[in-house]
Amino acid sequence: MQQVALVTGVSSGVGEALAPLLARQGWRVYGMSRRTVDLPGVRSLPADISDEEALHRAIGKLVATEGRLDAVVHCAGIGGAGPVENMPTQRARRIMDTNFWGSWNLCQTTLPQLRASPRGRLLLLSSIAGHMGIPFRSVYCASKAGVIALSDSLRLETRGSNLQVSCVSPGDIATNSIATQYRQPAAEVEGIYRDRYQRADDSMVANVAQGMTAAYVADELRKILVKDQLAPHYVIGEPIQKISTFARRILPGRAWEWVLGRYYG
Ligand SMILES: NC(=O)c1ccc[n+]([C@@H]2O[C@H](COP(=O)([O-])OP(=O)(O)OC[C@H]3O[C@@H](n4cnc5c(N)ncnc54)[C@H](OP(=O)(O)O)[C@@H]3O)[C@@H](O)[C@H]2O)c1
Repeated sequence: MQQVALVTGVSSGVGEALAPLLARQGWRVYGMSRRTVDLPGVRSLPADISDEEALHRAIGKLVATEGRLDAVVHCAGIGGAGPVENMPTQRARRIMDTNFWGSWNLCQTTLPQLRASPRGRLLLLSSIAGHMGIPFRSVYCASKAGVIALSDSLRLETRGSNLQVSCVSPGDIATNSIATQYRQPAAEVEGIYRDRYQRADDSMVANVAQGMTAAYVADELRKILVKDQLAPHYVIGEPIQKISTFARRILPGRAWEWVLGRYYG
């Protein structure tokens, strides 16, 4: 029987690359984002993941049509940059609402169907930034650290069921994410931060522009999805980025700060 997958974040970037890829591989694919999409083999299921009721309605439609849901790959997310002292709180909240609470909502809404599947799979996208605090991206880092913790807890809670949960942390990906996220203008930032903030922002823009392609990351996700046994964590990126998540865990705090300081001044 054809397996049913839901991919979120399908109007751009990784989700947009992954949903038609899974459809080509024989999955019956639903694609969620706030905007509707027209992608080959993908049924558009628009919803805002931070809106619990809208999400419930959308998943309800999917389940009423298919009677099952076997896999969710949660790619929807937003970035954001600004110093803790100056970033408008409503901007920061929007990032938490989308990245953390959106993931929470999606888990709550889809878990009954995923657990009922004989081969349930849930992949939550975090980020390498979720493994560490990066200057001027505190809320993004916190939201993605929250996704890692959510995934770890859920994996243990669902032990013994047919559902396997994994958290995937990519490094920089060359998508539209920079253009669509809130980045506080340097002119609004306190003088003591301004130069370092501008440098950090310039380097983020350059790193994302030179990042992995969305197609590459999508294919890595596909490979994870079809594994028999899923690991708790996957990191997709340059070797140095993979090492950084490990170094963060084993280096003493000040040594780690010194390493990060070489990148962020
Ligand atoms: N790009 C990077 O360098 C990078 C690095 C590490 C991790 N990541 C993470 O990897 C994932 C994919 O990144 P990407 O670069 O492919 O993203 P992207 O190109 O910016 O696309 C984000 C997607 O999320 C959807 N989305 C945003 N808010 C939503 C909401 N409230 N409800 C439903 N959908 C929503 C957007 O669609 P609508 O606007 O139509 O809703 C869009 O389809 C994200 O979780 C991101 O944080 C990205």
